[in-house]
Amino acid sequence: MTYEEATKMLAKCGQEHVLAHWKKLGKKEREALLAQIATIEPKSLAQCAATLKTGSEPPDSSKGKAPKVAVLKGKALKDAVAAGEKELKAGRVAALLVAGGQGSRLGYEGPKGCYPIGPATDAPLFYFHARKILARSLRYGKTIPFYVMTSEMNDAATKACFEENKYFGLDKKDVFFFTQGMWPGMTKEGKIILDQPGHVFMSPDGHGGLLAALKRSGALADMKKRGIKSVFFFQVDNPLVEIADPAFIGYHVLEKSDYSLKLCAKRDPFEKVGMPMKFGDSFRMVEYTEMTREQCERKDGKGELYFKYGSPAIHVFDRAFLDKEASKAMPLHLAFKKIPFVDAKGKVVKPDAPNGYKFEKFIFDILPNAKKAAFLAFDQKEEFSPVKNAEGSDSPATCKADMQNKWRKWLSEAGVTVADGLTVEIDPAYALDASDILKNGICLGAE
Ligand code: UTP
Repeated sequence: MTYEEATKMLAKCGQEHVLAHWKKLGKKEREALLAQIATIEPKSLAQCAATLKTGSEPPDSSKGKAPKVAVLKGKALKDAVAAGEKELKAGRVAALLVAGGQGSRLGYEGPKGCYPIGPATDAPLFYFHARKILARSLRYGKTIPFYVMTSEMNDAATKACFEENKYFGLDKKDVFFFTQGMWPGMTKEGKIILDQPGHVFMSPDGHGGLLAALKRSGALADMKKRGIKSVFFFQVDNPLVEIADPAFIGYHVLEKSDYSLKLCAKRDPFEKVGMPMKFGDSFRMVEYTEMTREQCERKDGKGELYFKYGSPAIHVFDRAFLDKEASKAMPLHLAFKKIPFVDAKGKVVKPDAPNGYKFEKFIFDILPNAKKAAFLAFDQKEEFSPVKNAEGSDSPATCKADMQNKWRKWLSEAGVTVADGLTVEIDPAYALDASDILKNGICLGAE
């Protein structure tokens, strides 16, 4: 993009101030600024401005009903597992990881996926995800391609982590990295914020940026070429997730669902998790902040919570559904944050209070577009223990304890007693569950 083209585009959008310090910039800074401006689409700026005007007031959730959530047991479970195994053996399943977040609550320098979570080995979060995919692929004799979304901030470090660790045993050609988009931050008045005289403040466009990024990068086309039908979606911070679990894949396929969600019973009525609700013929994710106290505490006829379940963002998508949704605009959500800015004299100011908006898209905003959605219950203790905070709940300490409890249970099911106080860690490529321990036997590493 040339200076003239940038001036014209910015003038059309009422954002001329982005070039206000042009004369003081060096050659490199000028080039970088033009390159940044080239990534900003006027259409997106108009959408940001419109969202600022309307605000991101959530729609009324008072008419929402609890969805029907399947609890698979006996024959239903057997049928789902068989259907899922059929898909896995046919090579129609992919794994899709969103790892572009900034992990600000954890406060870890670098991609969250590189965070050392292995209780004994300090293996990174990526290790547990990749080794599960490897094990599942080996078990069913077909590759599960692994699509990893990064952001501009952590793309290089993420790729370096996979390279250094030899892709954790996966074949490099089956790991597809792609980068999500960035949105400029804006003032209340809809003006783009510069955080340096020659630099626009930009932040990742949320996990909903996934759809556009899948399309732009060719990942969706790659999935189609490989004959993928079901796409298992998960987040980077939960090493307990059962990636491409046959029961979930099978349930999704048997239900002919576009978008399936695993849901777990909330730990308490006010747990901070989203809740899919039914509105007429479709579903929408209602965030915990949108639920009233009455809704959180409401009981059903059996005295159980009416809105019993929450979503830990473990999904299966139909690939063709993602393809359709990828061309549509998604709604934007606003986050009012402290954003460094350049004052009229060209000085960088770090504000003490929120002064600008970041814009994010959320993947679950495509739920209402699903012709068929399906909901499957699972046990939170078995599959969900995210690393969100540095300390306290949902922290590395709680996650490591939960990982070890799960492994200890498998060992106990396999007849192995582990002394109290011993650190336990199992390589997922060695055992995906207790049955693998029985099959493979036990090899004790050094403490
Ligand atoms: P979180 O909402 O936990 O955000 O992301 P975060 O950025 O990781 O952490 P905080 O809020 O700054 O502490 C949930 C999942 O969505 C991904 C994250 O990487 C994580 O797997 N994500 C989030 C993206 O891929 N891109 C984004 O822009 C935001």
